[in-house]
Amino acid sequence: MQRYNFDNVIDRSGTDAVKLVGLDRVFGRHDLTPLWIADLDFAVCPDITAALSHRLQHPVLGYSEPSDRYWQSIIDWNLRRHNFGVSREELCFIPGVVKGIALAVNYFTRPGDCVLIQPPVYTPFRTVVEGNGREVAENPLIFEDGAYRMDLDGLRQVVAERKPRMMVLCNPHNPIGIQWDRDTMAELAAIAREAGMVVVSDEIHGDLMLDGRAHIPFLSCGPDARAVGIMLGAPSKTFNIPGLVSSWMVVKNPELRKPFYHWLEVNEFSAPVMISTIGAEAAYNTGEQWLDEMLEYVQANIDFTIDYCARNIPEVKVIRPQASFLLWLDFRRLHMCQREIMDLLLDKAHLALNDGTMFGSQGAGFARLNVGTPRCVLAAALDSLRNAVHATCPKCSQQ
Ligand SMILES: Cc1ncc(COP(=O)(O)O)c(C=O)c1O
Repeated sequence: MQRYNFDNVIDRSGTDAVKLVGLDRVFGRHDLTPLWIADLDFAVCPDITAALSHRLQHPVLGYSEPSDRYWQSIIDWNLRRHNFGVSREELCFIPGVVKGIALAVNYFTRPGDCVLIQPPVYTPFRTVVEGNGREVAENPLIFEDGAYRMDLDGLRQVVAERKPRMMVLCNPHNPIGIQWDRDTMAELAAIAREAGMVVVSDEIHGDLMLDGRAHIPFLSCGPDARAVGIMLGAPSKTFNIPGLVSSWMVVKNPELRKPFYHWLEVNEFSAPVMISTIGAEAAYNTGEQWLDEMLEYVQANIDFTIDYCARNIPEVKVIRPQASFLLWLDFRRLHMCQREIMDLLLDKAHLALNDGTMFGSQGAGFARLNVGTPRCVLAAALDSLRNAVHATCPKCSQQ
């Protein structure tokens, strides 16, 4: 029986939500429907808020340590949902996935070193690397016949030429929502191992698999992956609790793990705040049905968007994701430059979508739409988009 309602429109004003308060900063205006930053507009599983409220009712909020129950909840979740075995010693708390990438960049590379990324990809992959005085080496994804794939020949070439010390893999890949297959990741791992390159695998979207697909953790892709891999995971996207900042890392290879975890520990980077672990434990232990229902709702929103665009705005092509609630929209058939696409979205449709070029120059002609919102909000946004496209491009409305 369905227990949760995702149709409720929740007023997020007054909560300092980045999605709302960031509109002026990022888009220069606030008269926009916010369908950009990657959190959900849905109420979280009530068992999570109950666990947090219960703890907050105690009058003392002193120093706390993550409990054995917390670690076990992560171990059990990975085994149950992904058939992925992880031990307590292989796990480490990190204060956010982006911070996890930043910590790995700082520990494993030196200023001037190269770090490899595969654009179009989540913006901080580049900004963290460049912001720490390292250089980005790019191995862009290949886009052919309406689908993206990884360029393994390109990867070999960039590795040989730029000698990156680290690669940041997005698995599943944001934007686009691709779950990389086992063979591709095993080959990538072999290339990395031969080159002595560490692979940081950001798997924050890994719990959000669609169409009954299985998530494939990078570390499950054979001995090379285990030798070079650092996996980053979190309950934040999964259960819509990014505000609690509760992420974790898995390193299987003790030669990488021991010194890295020691460095994290002495600097207290791996020391969680109390509510992070309480929220994560409650989410992993009690949130599974909420997640399954939420994924069904998101899947229906994706189907709805694809069908709507095909019928009403066929010039806007939606790339069907294999994971997560972010849709990569291809506007290139409108023959507009990126500024015109963003003007169409912002000025005409009053929609805040992420500009595709945020993810790299390869994102020109695209924008990212967050469909983790009630259906009525999404439907109204798509109507606005249709009206804006038809008003801007009269030929389009004649179809
Ligand atoms: C691929 C990816 N990594 C990391 C993050 C952010 O993670 P955190 O808030 O834990 O830093 C996001 C959020 O959109 C993401 O899409």
